[in-house]
Amino acid sequence: MGKYNQDFKVLTKRELCANTYHFKIQAPLIAKKILAGQFIMIRPNENSERIPLSICGWNREEGYIELIIMSAGRTSTEATIKEVGDSFKDVVGPLGQRSHIAKYDGACVLMGGGYGTGAIIPTARDLKEAGNRVIGVVGARSENLLLMVDELKDACDEVYLTTNDGSIGIEGFVTHALEEIQKKEKVSSVLAVGPVPMMIAVANMTKEDGIECWVSLNAIMVDGTGMCGACRVTVGGKTKFACFHGPDFNGHEVDFKELMTRQKMFVDQEKIAMEAFTGALEK
Ligand SMILES: Cc1cc2nc3c(=O)[nH]c(=O)nc-3n(C[C@H](O)[C@H](O)[C@H](O)COP(=O)(O)OP(=O)(O)OC[C@H]3O[C@@H](n4cnc5c(N)ncnc54)[C@H](O)[C@@H]3O)c2cc1C
Ligand code: FES
Repeated sequence: MGKYNQDFKVLTKRELCANTYHFKIQAPLIAKKILAGQFIMIRPNENSERIPLSICGWNREEGYIELIIMSAGRTSTEATIKEVGDSFKDVVGPLGQRSHIAKYDGACVLMGGGYGTGAIIPTARDLKEAGNRVIGVVGARSENLLLMVDELKDACDEVYLTTNDGSIGIEGFVTHALEEIQKKEKVSSVLAVGPVPMMIAVANMTKEDGIECWVSLNAIMVDGTGMCGACRVTVGGKTKFACFHGPDFNGHEVDFKELMTRQKMFVDQEKIAMEAFTGALEK
């Protein structure tokens, strides 16, 4: 297999919770270069759209990358129905910039919701390697929706769990865990990766408390290389491309209102695409 004719084979597939799977994909060239915080774009089949996905791990020697894919619409579902031995048509990357890594005097708190819990694992490892105390926080609606907790525990000094229904850990949101942590120790930096309302809450709280805050922006992307402008976001009053300048940005400077409006731009088309796809599957 050459550089332009690779086989992105599914090596393993594991269900994490309803509609969400962990995959190991053969991709030796990406595995060789990928850094914490960067992402890839996949096209599951010849006629699929391309979607961006974070990387939750890799093995440079064995040449694979690890992904968490939640089936949200047509293309992500085309990916999650792949089985071991199937291949993805394209996997492009690494894309975007590495997460911000520095040595801090207080703890680094990394917060993940949904697939975001996988995305924070490589950054947690790098921050720890840089000599930091690293605390992970995983939030979900309920215990059965918490993902990758054991893997995050391996990468962090300590992990807090939060559930909206209180089925395990702290009852409430990831911000409640941050409150608890701040009662015990100094926090210097926070990274939040997950649904936009969660990132807004974390950005607001850290701004009040004077803590550095990074968020990973899940803007709609088309090419993923800074060419098309689909992922345009406003940060600190300036136009940035989430795929090229990010995906991590200073959470205190992000125009989240604009991000949410732009995320909803294609809702009607997304519905039609999913209905056509499920209709074809049922036939
Ligand atoms: C940098 C980055 C990293 C990402 N990492 C992951 C990951 O590791 N695992 C994962 O499962 N998903 C990840 N996403 C989200 C993923 O790209 C979207 O779920 C996917 O593009 C949806 O495409 P679709 O055709 O399946 O659904 P569509 O029909 O396009 O959309 C269905 C619904 O999914 C949501 N959605 C659509 N696009 C996005 C988006 N870009 N971000 C968030 N929600 C969206 C909207 O609610 C939409 O209505 C990431 C997004 C970005 C930008
Ligand atoms: S996805 Fe095209 S510029 Fe970012």
